[in-house]
Amino acid sequence: MKQPELRFANRVVIITGAGAGLGRAYALLFASRGASVVVNDLGGSRHGDGSSTKIADAVVNEIRKNGGKAVANYDSVLDGEKIVKTAIDAFGRIDVIVNNAGILRDKSFSKMSETDWDLVQNVHVKGAFKITRAAWPYFVKQKYGRIIVTTSNSGLYGNFGQANYSAAKMGLIGLANTLAIEGESKNIHTNIIIPTAASRLTEDVLPPEIFEQLKPELIAPVVVWLCHEKCMENGSIIESALGWAGKCKHRRNYTDYGENKLYFSHVIRSSGSVLRPDLSSNVTPEDVEKKWSAITDMSTAKHFNSIAEVTGEFLVTIDAMKSGNFDSQCHLGASVQMPTDFRYLYENDSNFAVLPTFFTTHNSLLMDLSILEKALPSGELNPMKILHGEQYLEIYKELPTEATIETRMQIVDVLDKGSGAVFVVENETFDTSNGDKLCTTQMILFAVGAGGFQGKRSSSKIIPTVEAPNRQPDASVTQQTSHDQAALYRLSGDKNPLHIDSNVAMIAGFKKPILHGLCSLGFSVRHVLQTYANGDPSSFKAVKARFAKPVIPGQSLQTNMWQEGNRIHFQTSTVEENLSVLTGGYVDLKRTTPTQLTVNHLSGSNPVESDAVFATIGEYVKANLEQVKKINGVFLYHILVKGKPQATWTLDLKKGELYKGEPKSGKPDATLTLENEDMVQMALGKLNPQTAFMRGKLKVGGNLVLMQKLATLMEASRSKL
Ligand code: NAI
Repeated sequence: MKQPELRFANRVVIITGAGAGLGRAYALLFASRGASVVVNDLGGSRHGDGSSTKIADAVVNEIRKNGGKAVANYDSVLDGEKIVKTAIDAFGRIDVIVNNAGILRDKSFSKMSETDWDLVQNVHVKGAFKITRAAWPYFVKQKYGRIIVTTSNSGLYGNFGQANYSAAKMGLIGLANTLAIEGESKNIHTNIIIPTAASRLTEDVLPPEIFEQLKPELIAPVVVWLCHEKCMENGSIIESALGWAGKCKHRRNYTDYGENKLYFSHVIRSSGSVLRPDLSSNVTPEDVEKKWSAITDMSTAKHFNSIAEVTGEFLVTIDAMKSGNFDSQCHLGASVQMPTDFRYLYENDSNFAVLPTFFTTHNSLLMDLSILEKALPSGELNPMKILHGEQYLEIYKELPTEATIETRMQIVDVLDKGSGAVFVVENETFDTSNGDKLCTTQMILFAVGAGGFQGKRSSSKIIPTVEAPNRQPDASVTQQTSHDQAALYRLSGDKNPLHIDSNVAMIAGFKKPILHGLCSLGFSVRHVLQTYANGDPSSFKAVKARFAKPVIPGQSLQTNMWQEGNRIHFQTSTVEENLSVLTGGYVDLKRTTPTQLTVNHLSGSNPVESDAVFATIGEYVKANLEQVKKINGVFLYHILVKGKPQATWTLDLKKGELYKGEPKSGKPDATLTLENEDMVQMALGKLNPQTAFMRGKLKVGGNLVLMQKLATLMEASRSKL
């Protein structure tokens, strides 16, 4: 069902400094949603000199041309009462004030004059005070009002040359904090926005590579949502840029010096939420509304030390948006080179689906340290010393690709292991549209050093891991993780700095930032589904595994598998160090799909890309059995990498089978020898088989007429690549 549009019919909105930059974007969006807008702008220079009516008029004309309602006001915000009067005279009321007008007078502190100080304080702080005070009696009388003040990361973190501006911006936070308290009972809500946008104020401050991406239009939907009557947020600091939004908060924290703790207060920022799927998409106020709980979820909030760190984080966001996919699937290594993964990567794929392990990510994000602390007699935990020990997930219904869900969390047991405490945490997730239970998860968390409280040592509630059968694995898949795997996985929301920050990793006892255990688990579950369920996620029932050792991004994961009926045992290790990283694992499937496409890489070599091509050919053969059998030939492929044999495949079109290795019986009718790379190029239609043959890239032997028929098959299956 389409979300209803957020409208502002009969609402009157004043936006200060609305002739340019952010203010202009706000004015256009409010007007397009039915608001009557007062476009205030003095039309001065960036430093606050001069004035002009031109820019406010231009915005008013643009709104009217689009069928909206707007009037211009050219007063300085220091004459706030005149601006409010414009609203009352033109539209008879006032509902929303967006305090946005701003100037800069940047100088290093030693050169900063009193005028530089006063001008900046006046426009930002006094201006917001004057206009808000003029509107306040109307808000109180009508028991309704929405106020935005605009602050900056320069205020939160400080910035060279901006002492006046930083002070003014922190002053605005103080103003908003109190207005939020005084307005609460009167339904007057005040919130604070921290934008980062391309405008004349930032053209020489921000790096060019992000400047062009920082469109004010991507922040306007956040401000518009905050000012809507449905939005109940009050007194919050919301940061937004690039189609991302998060919440900032002051938090008390401590550094542990053994017996002594140093307490301090600092700003933390939520992981927030990306509001659009890629760099070319827009954001709407409804997108913001939909993602509001993720935007304001502080459970994985972290502290930044400087503006530079915040800007650096934006670069990561841009890079991830360039990849065009923020769903969990790509964080878990799904690849376009694996045809059965395509459903996880492309929303228009006819089988578009959610990888089941997505829900482990979602549920772990709900984990808040304070919930665990409450369950401990000592009431104290060191977040750096909490390890994810085991994970269980069971899915009951086919997972919807879009839904509003509710997850209920419960700590079902706390154990005292002496050296640490063990928490058994269970979540149940429901689809709110029909109340259906979608899945349950059980997380086992180990808090090092938190034991010794005389608690019980074991629990019958823990779902046990199960060791694999004592025989050689039935199948194995190896896949290299990307060096950026943890950076990408963080975008699922789990932004624990352990996975990206070398210093944090070192403090936690690791040489380098490590990959999220749940990310490795996502790889293994995909490998099991590829091997035993033809990649079909609806076959998935449950998974359990223990996180035994960390994985470093860039390492190759080898998932060894053993089939026992519908239970697939698995154990995952790193190829480089041959260390078991996931142990006692199993995936329960609702059904298995016999497949001869099992890829065996026990030698430890990486899978060749042509495996993906063969998997597609295999699917095509299965789907068109009668037709392909007419070719009536057996083909043997020798796949090389840099001239060395890498893999052998048999395509038996007499029986309609494809499998690794030599023909099970008899001789092939034709053999094809080619490099892995050329096989992929041919399959993608980038290398013509005849050209490959002429250039000696493809060596063929045996029945050439059959080869012609095979070319037709390749052509047909290619459309699926
Ligand atoms: P901008 O310079 O494009 O827009 C500011 C507007 O305010 C201008 O049109 C200007 O004429 C108007 N203005 C200045 N003094 C005024 C006064 N006394 N009365 C009425 N109007 C006045 O700048 P931008 O970037 O759109 O900034 C908007 C707000 O966002 C400012 O408060 C700024 O401090 C804040 N901000 C912007 C950031 C960014 O990345 N662009 C970062 C953090 C905060």
